[in-house]
Amino acid sequence: MSDDKTVSTPDTSGSTLTQGTTADGEVLLKVTGLQKHFPIRKGLLQRQTGAVRAVDGIDFEVRKGETLGVVGESGCGKSTMGRLITRLLEPTGGSVQFEGKDITHLKTGELRPMRRDVQMIFQDPYSSLNPRHTIGTIVSAPFRLQGVEPEGGVKKEVQRLLSVVGLNPEHYNRYPHEFSGGQRQRIGIARALALNPKLVVADEPVSALDVSIQAQVVNLLDDLQQELGLTYVIIAHDLSVVRHVSDRIAVMYLGKIVELAERDQLYTSPMHPYSKALLSAVPIPDPKRRGVKSERILLKGDVPSPIAPPSGCRFHTRCWKATEICKTTEPPLKELRAGQQVACHHPENFEDQQPQDTKLLSSAHEVAAENGVEKSTGGDAATAGK
Ligand SMILES: Nc1ncnc2c1ncn2[C@@H]1O[C@H](COP(=O)(O)OP(=O)(O)OP(=O)(O)O)[C@@H](O)[C@H]1O
Ligand code: SF4
Ligand SMILES: [Mg+2]
Repeated sequence: MSDDKTVSTPDTSGSTLTQGTTADGEVLLKVTGLQKHFPIRKGLLQRQTGAVRAVDGIDFEVRKGETLGVVGESGCGKSTMGRLITRLLEPTGGSVQFEGKDITHLKTGELRPMRRDVQMIFQDPYSSLNPRHTIGTIVSAPFRLQGVEPEGGVKKEVQRLLSVVGLNPEHYNRYPHEFSGGQRQRIGIARALALNPKLVVADEPVSALDVSIQAQVVNLLDDLQQELGLTYVIIAHDLSVVRHVSDRIAVMYLGKIVELAERDQLYTSPMHPYSKALLSAVPIPDPKRRGVKSERILLKGDVPSPIAPPSGCRFHTRCWKATEICKTTEPPLKELRAGQQVACHHPENFEDQQPQDTKLLSSAHEVAAENGVEKSTGGDAATAGK
């Protein structure tokens, strides 16, 4: 979450930065071609008739000490991805490597050591804490599950953890209902930190909280990262939160990563039309830009069904730049700029961003018209929504 992380330079071979180590640090987690297809079964015999392709072939890595933000509309597969990398779900395909070890198909017993190193914080601090257990029992659960006896005893360690997350250690014997939403999320964070993890995956950690409390929890996560050297994957639909916490950001659409970039590059110069549309809805907290006419691109309609995703580029049904190739050929995720990978045939903020004289699909004309996008001959194709 630091602001001083610099943009990595491409390696000399020109390939993407997906090797064992990078200019920015050691790779802690590496995901290759990861898939999760939930089977759809019907009839008495429960025959499989199809599958929800929640995560459909994604590649990324997480470097030690960084925060990778993950964004995308509801149903894009963010939570499924979080559950796959923490191995709460079994992948359908692809691989997950943690510290160079393949953990893709480890069985429950074999996963035990890895469970100490990788922890998850959940969205809802109400349902994720057992109402019948005291805070002491909840925060000490990881010790019992792992058979670990902390130095100085469990109670002392739990009280230390409570004070680390800004709670009163004397509240050890209280129950979850006695705490506010923000305090409950702190309890969830204390539980996640109990075994001194290396990677924390937080799925919408603040979205169930009041706006006034959100900043406190975000700042707590930030402070803990500095103090404990944690690595985070933070899933959030609030792009302001993601901007605040992330070093790099992955944008997901319908089970795929469509853009993966350094935070500032993504916010100042997004290359995927979907990223651009998502970001166009976020107010820019920059007084110098006050009064500057903002481009606002409205994404109409829902994300299509992951049971039968659109052919080619999955975004083509909602994209104002879609051409025939977008419909037929899936664009691969490629590093078009140092530190910025994009999956698009006609990327934004790039020299050959225009579909040129290629005919736009009729759906693209409709989206463009709805957004007030002129059929442009150069520059930015999406000067939308005045
Ligand atoms: N256990 C499951 N069985 C079948 N389908 C599932 C299951 N879990 C998730 N899905 C489907 O997979 C897709 C991705 O869901 P997921 O919860 O990962 O999305 P998300 O990006 O986290 O959405 P949100 O922002 O609403 O939390 C959705 O279509 C969802 O309905
Ligand atoms: S221009 Fe084509 S490839 Fe790029 S996002 Fe739009 S539909 Fe997809
Ligand atoms: Mg989710």
